[in-house]
Amino acid sequence: MDRDLYLEAALDAAYLAKGIHQYYREKGFTQSSKSTPTDLVTQADRESETAIRALLTSRFPGHGVLGEEEGQQGEGEFRWIVDPLDGTVNYAHGFPFYAVSIALEVRGQLELGVILDTARGELFTALRGAGARMNGRPIRVSRQTQLLGSLLATGFPYDVQRDSENLTYFQRALAKGLTVRRPGAAALDLAYVAAGRLEGFWEVKLNPWDVAAGWLLIEEAGGQVTGLHGEPYALGNRYLVASNQAIHAELIATLHGH
Ligand code: IPD
Ligand code: CA
Ligand code: CA
Ligand code: CA
Repeated sequence: MDRDLYLEAALDAAYLAKGIHQYYREKGFTQSSKSTPTDLVTQADRESETAIRALLTSRFPGHGVLGEEEGQQGEGEFRWIVDPLDGTVNYAHGFPFYAVSIALEVRGQLELGVILDTARGELFTALRGAGARMNGRPIRVSRQTQLLGSLLATGFPYDVQRDSENLTYFQRALAKGLTVRRPGAAALDLAYVAAGRLEGFWEVKLNPWDVAAGWLLIEEAGGQVTGLHGEPYALGNRYLVASNQAIHAELIATLHGH
């Protein structure tokens, strides 16, 4: 397996998406809503995914691609998992916290993850067994051991009125006096845990394209990603709790109301 070739392709695709994100921020873009009025999709989401798919499938015709806007295409042992624009609502408002996320799964195991913050230009990369990096420099999760001294983040689904479970967890964390942010781009939230900027993050109802690259980044940076009871996480699971490991058990206990 030629991981360097795959990484090069993921980086080329991510920078292609960056150009598209920037182009439409400057030029203006059309947008529409999907599942709820606040679940937006813009021209930048769609065109980024089309461009990323075209690049990946032209270089690796036998590989499958799963993306948010166009679903799964192609089958096989290699599957690219793509969020062409994570943080669309932020993007649509010009709130500079959004990214493109690209991961490669080989026979069901994540091998590579790239998250590019297309507003700031920060690049997060991970290769299984070879560590996580930001702008080429190795990153590690935070050393903080106290939950009260931690900076946490979460996110809410677009149908939070119907699917309000995370409001309970959010309230439990706030009621304990914890510091919790809702930045609005799950892939970047995960990258920030890997980089030690956040000690922990949880969310309910994320999709594989929100999580794939960030999950590998956190594992390679020495952190932990599980379900709501500390059980192993699998892509597509309803609950995700991510941390620097040291606060993991306490964070899970808090979400359960302890
Ligand atoms: C969303 C963002 C948001 C999270 C939502 C995701 P999108 O992705 O990551 O932070 O709370 O659950 O759906 O739609 O902007 O790619
Ligand atoms: Ca979306
Ligand atoms: Ca997303
Ligand atoms: Ca998206």
